[in-house]
Amino acid sequence: MVRRLEHIGIAVKDLKEANALYTQLLGVPPYKEEAVESEYVNTSFFQTGQSKIELLEATEAQSAIAKFIEKKGEGIHHVAFEVENIHAEMERLRDAGFQLLNAQPKKGADNKLVCFIHPKSANGVLVELCQTIQPEKKA
Ligand code: CO
Repeated sequence: MVRRLEHIGIAVKDLKEANALYTQLLGVPPYKEEAVESEYVNTSFFQTGQSKIELLEATEAQSAIAKFIEKKGEGIHHVAFEVENIHAEMERLRDAGFQLLNAQPKKGADNKLVCFIHPKSANGVLVELCQTIQPEKKA
């Protein structure tokens, strides 16, 4: 079962410029910047209440983000839902006929195990399932 909307991923051409813009828009700076080398992206995260905004910038032409921007321009790239047990959710959704883009969960940004669902399976929306690997301890 899905617990909540974890974040919305936005594809941007220039992370530095987008960080400045979203800092102004949201009134808070990103709490984290992280490179995900396996995906050829740099990311930043903004906390917005219970959910987050993830900005993604391509570092290489073969990055999915570069291809997305080439085809559609900047904009909303994916919607991410937090799940408690990503393996169980993947099995449930695979059995229900959803097309998963990876057979096993992979390591994503922000201490998450992630799996993507093909937009064809979700009304044109790229859906990310994510499970927190190392919950941040609250003081
Ligand atoms: Co994401």
